[in-house]
Amino acid sequence: MPTPTPRRGLLTRGLFLAAGVCIGTTACSADNPTGRPATTTEPRDESTTVTDPATPTRAERPRVLLAYFSRAGENYYNGGRRNLKVGNTEMLAEMISDLVDCNVHRIEPADPYPQGYDATVARNVEEQDADARPKIANPLNSMTDYDTVLLGSPIWNVRAPMIMSTFTDAHDFTGKTICPFVTYAVSGLAGVDRDYAASCPTARISTGLAVRGEDATRRRPQVEAWLRRVGLLTD
Ligand SMILES: Cc1cc2nc3c(=O)[nH]c(=O)nc-3n(C[C@H](O)[C@H](O)[C@H](O)COP(=O)(O)O)c2cc1C
Repeated sequence: MPTPTPRRGLLTRGLFLAAGVCIGTTACSADNPTGRPATTTEPRDESTTVTDPATPTRAERPRVLLAYFSRAGENYYNGGRRNLKVGNTEMLAEMISDLVDCNVHRIEPADPYPQGYDATVARNVEEQDADARPKIANPLNSMTDYDTVLLGSPIWNVRAPMIMSTFTDAHDFTGKTICPFVTYAVSGLAGVDRDYAASCPTARISTGLAVRGEDATRRRPQVEAWLRRVGLLTD
């Protein structure tokens, strides 16, 4: 697999190193309404389910995985910092999983990131400089059951955190569609779609969604429009 796009945006790195701000939020999944999804919900066996003939069966619908990384704790927040219990990307993932029939996999780092914003920035810089692949505590067993992967993360130093490269390196995305989504402070999508195109060359990369972290719970219309655009919401 090609080496991920080199780190970008030294200016932004400086901005985020110098800035003092933060975040945190909540999210859950359609299959885990508790809001603390730490495990993957594997596809259910629906072979014995009786369905209305007009209702498309699971086999006819795209089989969708929503995989995301999100970090709770101190983070950037409207020019300041805030310490929230659930990350912004997790909040966005919860909204998406409420709208789409999908299985949810929350990517957990084997070595959790610090609670502090500055310490997390410093660790991320080290990981980017080393082109590291931080270990995942709960690796996904298999990607074969899925046609579409909604792949979510925050933006860290103007790209996806390196743990997303750990995730994409571990799977064969041949024939699958990746729909990237991110939360950010200022950088927008920051080219993660291009990065996934480089690291998953046999996947189709669909339109990405970028939501400002502070707005993650207030952008349902934007999320719905994106899901329609990528063909996952039809009504
Ligand atoms: C280590 C670190 C680096 C960040 N770098 C950027 C950045 O380069 N550009 C940006 O727009 N936001 C940056 N942010 C802000 C996050 O992308 C934003 O707050 C995001 O919503 C956090 O999502 P989460 O709560 O799911 O982790 C950074 C945050 C952290 C912790």
